[in-house]
Amino acid sequence: MALNLDVCYDFILPLIKKSGELIRDRIWSQKTVEVKASEIDLVTETDQEIERILISSLRDKFPDHKFIGEESTAAGQKCELTAAPTWIIDPVDGTMNFVHGYPNVCISVALWADCVPEIGIIYAPVVGMLFTARRGQGAFLNGNRIFASKQTDLAKALMGLEYGTTRNEQHMKAVKENANILVPKVHGVRSSGSCAMNMALTALGATDCNYEFGIHVWDIAAGMLIVTEAGGVVVDPAGGPVDVMSRRFLCASSQALADDVSRLLVQFYPERD
Ligand code: IPD
Repeated sequence: MALNLDVCYDFILPLIKKSGELIRDRIWSQKTVEVKASEIDLVTETDQEIERILISSLRDKFPDHKFIGEESTAAGQKCELTAAPTWIIDPVDGTMNFVHGYPNVCISVALWADCVPEIGIIYAPVVGMLFTARRGQGAFLNGNRIFASKQTDLAKALMGLEYGTTRNEQHMKAVKENANILVPKVHGVRSSGSCAMNMALTALGATDCNYEFGIHVWDIAAGMLIVTEAGGVVVDPAGGPVDVMSRRFLCASSQALADDVSRLLVQFYPERD
């Protein structure tokens, strides 16, 4: 069946908004928390419930579409991106934030087709920020067009830095070395605890760049479109094109800033998705 992106967008947006109510209603309540790949990689019943709602509704509506979901992958499903229309879903990005009641939590959903992102939506229901993008149509926050800052000067850049959800020694070493290198060189650093929101904030011009090793395709699939539609860039942290399955990305308000950061970074290459 021909892919009708308007139909896809109009179907997923209200579903995401409705699912966001679960996060908003539960963020300051007791949760059932389980650990996944490491003791700081968490999942709650809300992550699983939202992913179930989104995938079952989408599958009923679009039976020939494919899915990559954070919790389905954790439960053993294959994480494979082909040219087929594929919904890439992180039901709760910033699960650690959600567990602690720190309000920077979002749902991140993207639709990719022919291996490019067509729809990207990041919804942070507690703080009321809905980021949307369609390929070639710009990026929006709550319906208003947004643009990356165009900052090119590292010394004036506000940078997002994350410590990740693994205690892998090599990963931690690279993260700490990079913090030591970058902190004295930038205007300031912020650690928001959500990769998708970090990207959305760069799209908004609220930060100028951020990078991370060890993320997964569901953390960046929507953010990649939102950042590029806002005029920012998403590249590999060593420079050059980003590979969405590589578990590495760097996004910035300008190519010049991305180049400067990638020249400074100590690299780490996690196992691919
Ligand atoms: C995590 C968050 C966190 C980032 C991790 C991600 P999750 O996603 O985005 O900020 O540092 O790399 O895995 O587990 O909360 O969906």
